[in-house]
Amino acid sequence: MPLIVITGVSTGIGRACAELYARRGWQVVGTARDPGRLGDIAWPGPGSVHLEPLDLEAVGSGAGFAQAVLERYGAPEVVLANAGMVQFGPVEAAPAAEIERIFRVNTFEQVGMATAFVPAMRERGSGTLAFVTSLGGRMTFPFFAVYNASKHAMEGFSEGLWHELRSSGIRVKAIEPGFVETAIWGKALPSDPGELDAPAAYREQMLAMLRFEAGISSRTTPERSAEEIARALDDPGDRLRYPVAAYARPLLAARRLFGDQRMMRFFHRRWLG
Ligand SMILES: NC(=O)c1ccc[n+]([C@@H]2O[C@H](COP(=O)([O-])OP(=O)(O)OC[C@H]3O[C@@H](n4cnc5c(N)ncnc54)[C@H](OP(=O)(O)O)[C@@H]3O)[C@@H](O)[C@H]2O)c1
Repeated sequence: MPLIVITGVSTGIGRACAELYARRGWQVVGTARDPGRLGDIAWPGPGSVHLEPLDLEAVGSGAGFAQAVLERYGAPEVVLANAGMVQFGPVEAAPAAEIERIFRVNTFEQVGMATAFVPAMRERGSGTLAFVTSLGGRMTFPFFAVYNASKHAMEGFSEGLWHELRSSGIRVKAIEPGFVETAIWGKALPSDPGELDAPAAYREQMLAMLRFEAGISSRTTPERSAEEIARALDDPGDRLRYPVAAYARPLLAARRLFGDQRMMRFFHRRWLG
């Protein structure tokens, strides 16, 4: 049974990917901060899903997890580094500890995990290392600067790793979702804009961004995103970047067509007036 490691399978995109690969007959090693909470999920077959605890807020957790997987299950065919979190707010008001936390979870421990998997995969001469980055790893949205910067870092890391591993047989892929209907936004954004805790200088603009976010009508489901991600992972070619889900392809195409500066002015007017 081929082995896929997917981080963050408790909800959203990771959960849909774990279900899809279990249906495909793969052995899935999935993570959650508290796997005990997922005890009642009936994972589909004919494959299997093994849950392992992973909290990426802990320094060294990514590399430690990879070592444990290699010892317990062997070298995976595919690693899908999916777990992540969003931060919303003006840069000026972001506490240093919060910035560190976002980069720890979305960037540093992802790098640590990937690095720890590489030697075993390189020795075998095959496999795929895929990082769920974001449309926000290619462009930046106001008040998501810290989150987007953590994903831009993963885009840069993936591109460098692509070069370094190209002759090794390991394929490196950056999966760039646009907007997907998951719990991630609700964890970072106030459910009631009236409860927005914001510095006065930014309040109106942040409310405008919340209205924009709430007005995005056509998001992709996690299930459809998982199908697109599986197609990307199946691709035997050496392509690095895969925009998936709502808005990812058209927005990136528009940015290429019109250039960075014009697109930034256009979106600034549209989002913030
Ligand atoms: N939804 C979108 O529109 C969208 C767009 C672009 C990119 N993405 C990216 O897609 C990935 C999956 O997001 P999603 O939308 O599916 O969100 P989600 O439903 O909130 O799932 C996030 C997963 O990451 C895990 N996670 C969060 N913090 C963690 C930590 N400190 N340590 C270990 N695991 C942690 C969560 O597990 P717990 O149960 O332990 O919290 C959960 O399984 C993320 O990397 C996100 O940035 C999403």
